[in-house]
Amino acid sequence: MADCGSVSLEENILKAAAVLRKADWVTAFTGAGMSVESGIPPFRGPDGIWNKYDSRLLELPYFDANPEKCWVTIKEIFYDFFGRAQPNPGHRVLAEMEAAGKLKALITQNIDDLHTRAGNKTVYEFHGNSRLLLCRRCGRKSSAASTDFGRLPPRCAFCKDEILKPDFVFFGEAIPFEALSNSRFAAGRTDCMIVIGTSGEVYPAAGMPPLAAQSGAHIIEINPYESAYTNSITEIYLPLPAGDVLPKIWDLAKA
Ligand code: APR
Repeated sequence: MADCGSVSLEENILKAAAVLRKADWVTAFTGAGMSVESGIPPFRGPDGIWNKYDSRLLELPYFDANPEKCWVTIKEIFYDFFGRAQPNPGHRVLAEMEAAGKLKALITQNIDDLHTRAGNKTVYEFHGNSRLLLCRRCGRKSSAASTDFGRLPPRCAFCKDEILKPDFVFFGEAIPFEALSNSRFAAGRTDCMIVIGTSGEVYPAAGMPPLAAQSGAHIIEINPYESAYTNSITEIYLPLPAGDVLPKIWDLAKA
């Protein structure tokens, strides 16, 4: 049960820092809230992407039936808009924690590449990423950065007429095998998982924090609003924006 009612936020920040200081094998599990301070909206909630756009554009049957229409919106959300975003102080702290040997794995549901751009190396991209585009006919992947989005939908340079799909996971698609098995290993191995900016509603990704909790890991949750975890597996709840609180707990933990 989250420890947030009886103790002050300041005490919880100190507790989180103490847990981090002691832990040998820390994992971070991140969702869309991690990138909110980089200007990327979350998926759910009043200002969420799925409140503004039709989420069917990431369902394969709908995408295949309406590739041009879907690609216009996919380009707008995931390439024009996400493409301009920069890592925020929260991303940078996670990179610092990995460089210091504290953070051993970073499981992210995000496809925005901001963890890698901040400097994290051990990043398990549970839902793939937007860097690459996939040809489902020949299996080749090409860089989104070198793709001409002036003509939509983009097509495979080798299979000419084949429409490319972003190499991130659409609703109902399988999770990339390596990301799934590495994430499961990290969740089972970690002695502290920091769960940051996720509603905990989308499975199988949402199953990673419970797996860590079952394996005996401390669960620190950072999210201004309560999630599916807050009153179940969260041990220390920090209801603050990630970019504010991550630098604070890391400064205290490394001191
Ligand atoms: N810092 C931390 N958390 C924040 C912040 C912030 N500054 N701002 C918002 N949040 C929290 C919200 O309170 C919410 O709980 O981030 C969470 C975002 O939740 P979702 O929008 O549901 O995003 P996520 O959990 O990552 O969604 C999972 O759903 O549509 C799919 O594939 C997509 O990977 C995504 C998956």
